[in-house]
Amino acid sequence: MTVDNDAANRVLAGLRPFPVAITTIDGGFANGLMSLSAGAASIIPEAPRATISLTKYNKTHDMVLNSGIFVMHMLSAADEDVEASLEILMTLGGSSGRDGDKMSKLRTKTGVTGAPILLDAHSYVECRVSGSLDVQESTIFVGDIVAAEVFSEGQRLRIGEAWGKLPADWVAQYDANHEPQLANARARRFGEQA
Ligand SMILES: Cc1cc2nc3c(=O)[nH]c(=O)nc-3n(C[C@H](O)[C@H](O)[C@H](O)COP(=O)(O)O)c2cc1C
Repeated sequence: MTVDNDAANRVLAGLRPFPVAITTIDGGFANGLMSLSAGAASIIPEAPRATISLTKYNKTHDMVLNSGIFVMHMLSAADEDVEASLEILMTLGGSSGRDGDKMSKLRTKTGVTGAPILLDAHSYVECRVSGSLDVQESTIFVGDIVAAEVFSEGQRLRIGEAWGKLPADWVAQYDANHEPQLANARARRFGEQA
């Protein structure tokens, strides 16, 4: 039976509207990326967990796999904060830590795991990986939350609002960077002939 991928993608689109900034540290090198894959992963309120899905193409993937730690930050939509939120999004989501240090461009403090906490974020949960699932082109990580803070009582930034405010040249660069990532994912899923 042929799958109606247009229907499938309509069902799946926009399920996770909040972009999150993921940071980690491995071997003394701090790095991070943007993700739209974050979710809650525990029904036990006194033992919360978070989940993220990272593409193997990205440096942060290997760093989280190796270190077993990540911090998931929400971004702020408040008028006075949105510029800093877009700066975080563009810095972490616009290039790879393979090409140089991104983290020193952002204001941080050190979390309990040693990973960097973004001081201009809306809020964060800091996690130690409790389980992971390898799904060919990416890994789904689940983490026990070991620290959390809310810096702002304002709204959290949604991806629709962020796309509308990002500069066109940054979006064009992001689209160009996405191509090799997609090719890498297809090769990992379907083999090198993909
Ligand atoms: C809005 C947005 C959502 C993204 N979602 C994901 C995601 O869920 N998983 C992922 O691995 N990369 C995601 N990316 C791509 C990474 O953030 C991007 O490739 C980053 O440059 C990787 O950096 P690194 O190589 O230093 O880890 C997203 C980027 C943006 C801008």
